Amino acid sequence: MLSLPSLLSERVQAVAGIDPELRPATRPQFGHYQTNVALRLANAEGTKPRDVAARLVEQIDLGDLCEPLEIAGPGFINLRIRTDVLARVATQVLTEPSSGISAAGQPRTVVIDYSSPNVAKQMHVGHLRSTIIGDCFTRVLRAQGHTVIPQNHIGDWGRQFGMLVEQILEEGIDVAALDLPAAEELYQRANGHLQSSEEFADRARERVVMLQAGDAATRTLWQQLIDVSLAGFNATYKRMNVLLTNADLAGESIYNDDLAVVAADLEDRGIAVVDGGALVVFVEGFTAPAIIRNAAGGFGYTCTDLAAVRHRVGDLHADRMIYVVGAPQAHHFEQVFAVARLAGYLPDGVSAEHVGFGQVLGADGKKFSTREGTAVTLNSLLDAAESEAAPAIALAAIKYADLSSGLQKDYTFDAERMVATTGDTGPYLQYAHARANQILRKAEAEGFAGDAVTVLAEPAEQQVALLLSRFGEVVAAVGETLQPHRLCGYLYELAGALSSFYEQCPVLKSEGEVRSSRLALCEATRKVLATGLDLLGIEAPERM
Ligand code: ARG
Repeated sequence: MLSLPSLLSERVQAVAGIDPELRPATRPQFGHYQTNVALRLANAEGTKPRDVAARLVEQIDLGDLCEPLEIAGPGFINLRIRTDVLARVATQVLTEPSSGISAAGQPRTVVIDYSSPNVAKQMHVGHLRSTIIGDCFTRVLRAQGHTVIPQNHIGDWGRQFGMLVEQILEEGIDVAALDLPAAEELYQRANGHLQSSEEFADRARERVVMLQAGDAATRTLWQQLIDVSLAGFNATYKRMNVLLTNADLAGESIYNDDLAVVAADLEDRGIAVVDGGALVVFVEGFTAPAIIRNAAGGFGYTCTDLAAVRHRVGDLHADRMIYVVGAPQAHHFEQVFAVARLAGYLPDGVSAEHVGFGQVLGADGKKFSTREGTAVTLNSLLDAAESEAAPAIALAAIKYADLSSGLQKDYTFDAERMVATTGDTGPYLQYAHARANQILRKAEAEGFAGDAVTVLAEPAEQQVALLLSRFGEVVAAVGETLQPHRLCGYLYELAGALSSFYEQCPVLKSEGEVRSSRLALCEATRKVLATGLDLLGIEAPERM
């Protein structure tokens, strides 16, 4: 089904011949949408914009959807949707709030790489952002009807396991009895040991070889470290109310057997060359080559990501890949994608996007860290927000702060501001939802209901209905551009329109058809707020 804005657009384009680029009107007196298509056409033809506008207005067939079109200023065309049409659309939203969301066109198979913490380390702020953003993408793209395959690319393989296992053996500790913070302390002790003792460093190196060769005792300890870490990650996911489960795990270790295959493939086909003992790929536009295998014969992060691309395209049949990883890794992904394109692992029809994100800053404007200067753990952030508000509200505050400004921007973690129920915050939207719910409950108790929007006489009512008609477009734009702040901005505007509507139009105190229509409008808005918040991964409690 075409949404109202696309329908309008299509009808204008049928006459104008080019995309009218309809924009929401900047002032109520300009109607609901505006287009500068006449100005652009006149410019190309060398004719007068107002003449072109007059000709278009003559020919455009919108009588069933709009009031007569108007020409404004130098040749803008203003569209005002008929109120009976708005009422119909609002009623449709009421019946099926997600009806406008499903994607036009082919459903795709989308792999989203997100969260991806490292074994024996607690999740830090960067993983928080990745988890929240990736979870939002999963929800939005699934709602649009795409097949989403989350891939939690945890760091469960590599040289660090040599020192970890050696340290465990030396201390004689029972890994299974550790929790994640204790495993992280072990990591730090092992690292210190590695720096200070040559002999320990040698043992750690030999242990890596044993791990790779599949030595049973080594593998058991390695697996225990993973299990302990997963228990910690899963507890955090649960606390964050995200969709990730163990079924989405696709850690680095699963590519272990593929690494040598990738290296040989690249070398055989002349894509990779040996340079200074290492196997590398030179890619145009990059100062340093991509390292496939280092001079010591080890495979690293880049080779693993190439194997992952191969797997995701070849076995999972992804035709869109999204990597939600901090901005500092932008260069890494550019290079991986470039090598993968060269090698044919990433065919033309498959898109690969790295969605980077900015840092979380402390009140001092510097990168958020503990007093000791170490990275802040995710759990301590959740604790900080929960000291200001109930868990569901604290979580809404964090997620919304994370999603509502452009992802690339840094943002300041200010728990007090984030949990406020006024301003552009998650709790404000939850509150708007709860308030609508309260009115509806009251009406219900008094025996009133509204099952269709039929009267839209007041501008404040029309504004709410107009916004409701845009919901599907906004969600589609998020799925396309991967910019959740568009949905946040939309919901914030909708909540604001709802509150102006209450101020200007009595709901419970009105009567007859006006009351039932207003109740229906309230209910449709409540549903869109709840559905929209859910797409952001935010709960909408019934009461607050
Ligand atoms: N474990 C990495 C880190 O914490 C993130 C992995 C991102 N995903 C990937 N395919 N490289 O920095």
